[in-house]
Amino acid sequence: MLTIACGSKSNSRHFGRTPSGEAVDLYTLTNRKGMEVSISTYGGVVVSLRVPDRTGAPGDVVLGFDKLEGYLKPNPYFGAIVGRYGNRIAHGQFTLDGVEYTLAKNNGENSLHGGNRGFDKRIWTATKPADIGYVVGIRSLLPWRDHGGQSLELTYQSKDGEEGYPGNLSATVTYTLTDNNALRIDYSGTTDKDTVVNLTNHSYFNLAGQGKGDVLGHQVTIFADRFTPVDKTMIPTGELRNVQGTPFDFRRPHAIGERINASDEQLRLGRGYDHNFVLNRTGSGLELAARVSEPKTGRVLEVLTTEPGVQFYTANFLDGTLKGKGGKVYGPRSAFCLETQHFPDSPNKADFPSVVLKPGGRYRTTTVYHFSADSRL
Ligand code: GLA
Repeated sequence: MLTIACGSKSNSRHFGRTPSGEAVDLYTLTNRKGMEVSISTYGGVVVSLRVPDRTGAPGDVVLGFDKLEGYLKPNPYFGAIVGRYGNRIAHGQFTLDGVEYTLAKNNGENSLHGGNRGFDKRIWTATKPADIGYVVGIRSLLPWRDHGGQSLELTYQSKDGEEGYPGNLSATVTYTLTDNNALRIDYSGTTDKDTVVNLTNHSYFNLAGQGKGDVLGHQVTIFADRFTPVDKTMIPTGELRNVQGTPFDFRRPHAIGERINASDEQLRLGRGYDHNFVLNRTGSGLELAARVSEPKTGRVLEVLTTEPGVQFYTANFLDGTLKGKGGKVYGPRSAFCLETQHFPDSPNKADFPSVVLKPGGRYRTTTVYHFSADSRL
């Protein structure tokens, strides 16, 4: 393979300090098409993501804060890397190798998104961004793969017993901005003791631009025949329910707002969509999980993943009290999340795909957020 230089670039600046005095940096990667992503070493947060619309005008499509201070205060995981376990574990408990582990309960009776201080509230170590160059060859004809771009590697060492989880986990998350307008996220990890791992990114997207109202007009397709219904504490019941004939059938495009207020027990429990979809996978590689388009700007987001599930969340808990970038107020349903993942509460559900990582093994998943603009929308 031959690699040649490309016009993408990267830079970093001081983003601020935590209350205990630790320095936080903000890295910005720019590709040859002018798409730009800024990532903070605090929480590995995607702070901004500028993507062209159908006229070529860039717009920031993720919710967040202008300053580090916003992220240091309670916020709903805007743009962050979530771990050690994304989404909920019932009663903050699970048993592994006959040992019962008790986690921090931070969501009623349950543990959510890694506990009180998950990976979203930790400082990650950045490796200098690398220009991955433009790879010439037949594979470069495939979108989302082997296109030139910039990478930022972040590492975090999670200690044995942190938030109740067993094993020293060494986690690496690599963000790559490709010249094909994709943000690729590669997650990997190793442990020195049996543990559970489920990493994801919690970006809140609004393809019309952050702060530009609600996302009810966005058209969504999710390639899933089934979803995991939840109980009243948002823990999956264990059933894999067919979406046919329900407001969860997104196998053909539907506006988010079309059925979100339908009389449906699951929508009532989630106060909207906040559910894990069981992706129709055919193999173990990257496969298309979801597609979202926004009619006014023509922006299209395609999500590809190696994961078996995706949490479709319509920002039901945003209530207009958080002031975000540029002073924008974030109301209910002003964004959507597509959190690729293993299913919630898998450590307690023997029938769900396993989330156990053992010493000598390697946790490895990839998710790609690919952007384009469609002039016909
Ligand atoms: C996930 C959960 C939601 C909510 C958000 C963060 O999507 O499933 O219930 O907790 O994270 O606010």
